Amino acid sequence: MTATGPEGAADKSTPPPAPAWDPVVRLTHWCVAFAVVLNGLIVEGESLIHIWIGYAAIACLLLRFFWGVIGTDEARFTSFPPSIAAAKTHLGDLLAGRHKTYRSHNPIGTWMVYALWGLLIVVSVTGLMMESEPFPPHADSAFQGFLSLFQEYERGHGHGVDKVVEEIHEVAADMVLFLAMIHVGGVFLEQRLSGTRLVRAIISGEKRARPTE
Ligand code: HEM
Ligand code: HEM
Repeated sequence: MTATGPEGAADKSTPPPAPAWDPVVRLTHWCVAFAVVLNGLIVEGESLIHIWIGYAAIACLLLRFFWGVIGTDEARFTSFPPSIAAAKTHLGDLLAGRHKTYRSHNPIGTWMVYALWGLLIVVSVTGLMMESEPFPPHADSAFQGFLSLFQEYERGHGHGVDKVVEEIHEVAADMVLFLAMIHVGGVFLEQRLSGTRLVRAIISGEKRARPTE
């Protein structure tokens, strides 16, 4: 999360080019965002298209996670470690009007990115569980044991394991949609306060600080 302040610029009217998001980050971002909007708001859960969109989203997420290990500098997980202290400092900077352009996600955005990814993993795993109904016959004994816990629950409460998994899937999907709204609001707020063209960066890859004066 190395930051470059505009004070480093020799000529303030032409700020130095800051690192840009690479094509893998941009492509996976927009595919996942598109999939979430389609599956969460437009397409029926029971439909085949929902499953295919879901698989596409999983493929994009896997690619992004792989890229987070071997990818470009700004895409790597090591470039945006979650830190409460760094998030507080960043908030202070924003409120004090100190402009900074980060090489990767800013320290507040970092928390949102991990929250979205965490929920998307829950949505994907539960989606796959529903999709592979009935559970694979070749499942090993440890998995069968785990499954029988749910079956106990079913006998005691009158709910199926499918029902629990489906509930988790839907609640996590709603939380993704809710956080995505805050995420977009946060992006525009950060863009305004920090002077960095974040939206342009995730579309065209170019991430420049706005001329300060
Ligand atoms: C991309 C993110 C996803 C979102 C936002 C999402 C959202 C939802 C929502 C809101 C429902 C309930 C819809 C309704 O009742 O009409 C649902 C149902 C369902 N989803 Fe997803 N989903 C996603 C990914 C997946 C994936 C990856 C799979 C499987 C590969 C999947 C499989 C299913 C199935 C089988 C149902 C039907 C459950 C039922 O009513 O029996 N979803 N999803
Ligand atoms: C359902 C919709 C969306 C979801 C689930 C979502 C999720 C994410 C995730 C997971 C990242 C991290 C990207 C990575 O490192 O690979 C991200 C970054 C970003 N997203 Fe979204 N996004 C959504 C919609 C949008 C929209 C509509 C915009 C533009 C208005 C946007 C602008 C951005 C920007 C600018 C970043 C980079 C932030 C930074 O520079 O730190 N997102 N988003």
